[in-house]
Amino acid sequence: MENVVLEVKNLSKSFAHDGGQIHVLTNLNLKIYKDDFTVVMGSSGSGKSTLLYAISGMDKATSGSVIYNGKDINTLKEKEITKLRHTDFGFVFQQMHLVSNLTLFENVCISGYLNKDKKASDINEYATELFKRMDIDEVKNHLPSQVSGGQMQRCAIARAIINKPAIVFADEPTGALNKKNSIEVLDILSDLNNNGQSIVMVTHDIRAAIRADRIIYLSDGNVLGDLRLHKYKKEDEKSRENQINAWLNSLEW
Ligand SMILES: Nc1ncnc2c1ncn2[C@@H]1O[C@H](COP(=O)(O)OP(=O)(O)O)[C@@H](O)[C@H]1O
Ligand SMILES: [Mg+2]
Repeated sequence: MENVVLEVKNLSKSFAHDGGQIHVLTNLNLKIYKDDFTVVMGSSGSGKSTLLYAISGMDKATSGSVIYNGKDINTLKEKEITKLRHTDFGFVFQQMHLVSNLTLFENVCISGYLNKDKKASDINEYATELFKRMDIDEVKNHLPSQVSGGQMQRCAIARAIINKPAIVFADEPTGALNKKNSIEVLDILSDLNNNGQSIVMVTHDIRAAIRADRIIYLSDGNVLGDLRLHKYKKEDEKSRENQINAWLNSLEW
């Protein structure tokens, strides 16, 4: 199974705090595989968000490397990282961070226009296709405040994939959603993954975790557990949930 899209080597991340240092990640090693829907779990404060930001170029690690496409993104210049964020990586957050005075459609297209390699007309066309695929076509000219949380998050996913990124990173994308909206959003993510999209998603929600092909468990700034699962199927939900819960219990989650 050597189809590595991202390789994390000896990654450490510390923050200055109260005159000292907090060591959040310590010499962490991890390979992310292209076909996987990878989920990152761990207790609150275990460093999940820090890891996600450090491996996606959102934040610089203190030391170590993150190899993407043969390059260490931890050593790239700010300008090169920015370009990477606009072309190769997509992001979805718990609080969707949509621009409140732009329509849903504009929110998605603006992200596309940041990629200077593409024509605006192509972006608009692809955005139209995505709005249909995400089933938010009928609200595309609404402002974020005029739609449901689930519709906002589906719009945020469309924004994340408008540039056809190699990897979509999601930090607790269902954390602010009710059950129905969470399922809608997870269905979209599963669907994307079934169509070849690499996904790395942080969550502490079992309902979200059952979508994973693989779950990484973080503890004390390192990988404590690494669970491989079969591809998600709706009919297996209960048995997956039991399997994951048993595994999490064994890790004293
Ligand atoms: N910018 C920062 N400055 C100082 N400490 C931080 C910063 N970001 C995160 N931390 C600390 O790092 C630890 C891990 O945080 P985080 O990655 O957000 O955890 P998680 O997402 O698993 O809940 C926490 O103890 C948090 O307080
Ligand atoms: Mg977090």
